[in-house]
Amino acid sequence: MEFIIENKEKTKCFGEYLGSLLQKGDVICLNGDLGTGKTTMSKSIGFGMGIEDYITSPTFAIINEYYGNLNLYHFDTYRLTSNADVEYLGFDEYFYGDGVCIIEWADRIKDALPEDYLEINLERIDEEKRKYNLVAVGKRAEELLEELKNNEDSWN
Ligand SMILES: Nc1ncnc2c1ncn2[C@@H]1O[C@H](COP(=O)(O)OP(=O)(O)OP(=O)(O)O)[C@@H](O)[C@H]1O
Ligand SMILES: [Mg+2]
Repeated sequence: MEFIIENKEKTKCFGEYLGSLLQKGDVICLNGDLGTGKTTMSKSIGFGMGIEDYITSPTFAIINEYYGNLNLYHFDTYRLTSNADVEYLGFDEYFYGDGVCIIEWADRIKDALPEDYLEINLERIDEEKRKYNLVAVGKRAEELLEELKNNEDSWN
């Protein structure tokens, strides 16, 4: 599924809507160059999930954890260098754990990703305009993608 997002406000609407759909065990993978809006979208997803804390970029921490009715584990794998890092950090415990995972730069840890995830590829068109390409991997991700498709009026 591919669509154009005209500006930052639309990114926020999309993120919040997606956040409102999420359940325990869901994994959202965000790919795209520097500054395409992965962290901006993550913040909105967290907001849509009802997380009240201020969400910041986990670039240096690698994983930021937020606790709410539904916990959020926000990853930024930009600074990871090897698969050993991935194992050391025990990503699987998060992926198959009690909350939602959002992973920035997920394409860097492709081999370590879980069986089911929704991939969002962000591409810069101009200053504010973005192209999103969504790919569902697995059954649950397909459900989420269907829900997004059927309700585009609510977020775009
Ligand atoms: N449509 C849009 N969606 C998201 N961000 C936008 C949009 N238009 C402009 N921006 C701006 O682009 C920047 C995106 O920064 P953000 O930190 O979210 O990107 P990122 O993909 O996480 O970058 P990094 O790879 O460095 O982590 C922000 O300054 C934001 O205001
Ligand atoms: Mg970021």
